[in-house]
Amino acid sequence: MERCECVAEVRRRVEKARRDGFSVALVPTMGYLHEGHLALVREARQRGSFVVMSIFVNPLQFGPNEDYARYPRDLERDAALAAEAGVALLFHPSAEEMYPEPNLTQIEVGKLGKILCGASRPGHFRGAATVVGKLFNIVGPDDAYFGLKDYQQYLIIRQMAHDLNFPVRVIGVPIVREDDGLAKSSRNVFLTPQERAEAVLLNVSLAEAEEEIRQGLRQARKVEEGIRRRLEQTQGRVDYIEVRDASTLAEVEAIEGKVVIALAVYFGSTRLIDNRIIDLD
Ligand code: PAJ
Repeated sequence: MERCECVAEVRRRVEKARRDGFSVALVPTMGYLHEGHLALVREARQRGSFVVMSIFVNPLQFGPNEDYARYPRDLERDAALAAEAGVALLFHPSAEEMYPEPNLTQIEVGKLGKILCGASRPGHFRGAATVVGKLFNIVGPDDAYFGLKDYQQYLIIRQMAHDLNFPVRVIGVPIVREDDGLAKSSRNVFLTPQERAEAVLLNVSLAEAEEEIRQGLRQARKVEEGIRRRLEQTQGRVDYIEVRDASTLAEVEAIEGKVVIALAVYFGSTRLIDNRIIDLD
């Protein structure tokens, strides 16, 4: 695996891979890698692509009171995991390399960025879309891989690629979970043992909600209430629990077709998200 920190070098390496006949895949991450990230790499490898992984904790997508400074980082461990998973090129730029002064232009993502996670994290999706747009332009991938754990982010990036004519296929990869069902996340390390034990209920309550729907419950508000009651038994503070249309994230009253149940819960200052897609078609 090659490593590089500068944009010009990435372009040179990718150009060479293309000359050698490879298609190019991009896996954008903020590092502190776990099986969820590596599943994206494996998916990309299966298509035989030259896999570029980026590791960059993007200041633009963190709010002033969020965890940018304490976001976990371990580049050497990440590099070993990435190499083992089959990454061909690891791009880990500095903040100065990604945002040379002045940086005036950002990608506005519209209404999709203002709901759910965007409502409690103003500017978050603008920041995420901007850095992903830059990475698309730097790497020029054929395919880019995103986890469905961040379902709203996946839809926003897909929309961005469509709206701005990025010639890239945006591919969603299923959520990877711990053995007890908690969605893997770099932020799980912040949980106390009690919080970690309680956090299992995010996935449990989503599974129960799916069961209720499969048995005929169709009122979205009732489904949300059921999950809320379950999570009230924990120390978690619910940010949102919402049943939404799975392709537009529009609000839903009576459940039909394909919906996503998405939630965000604070345990202490750690914000966890999870979701479940339910397809009734
Ligand atoms: P990060 O949180 O590091 O996640 C990088 C990618 O890994 C995202 O596409 C995310 O959805 C995916 N991922 C994380 N946990 C996962 C899990 N348990 N199962 C499946 N996929 C998982 O998301 C970001 O970084 C940033 O916003 C980024 C897109 C890199 C832009 O800065």
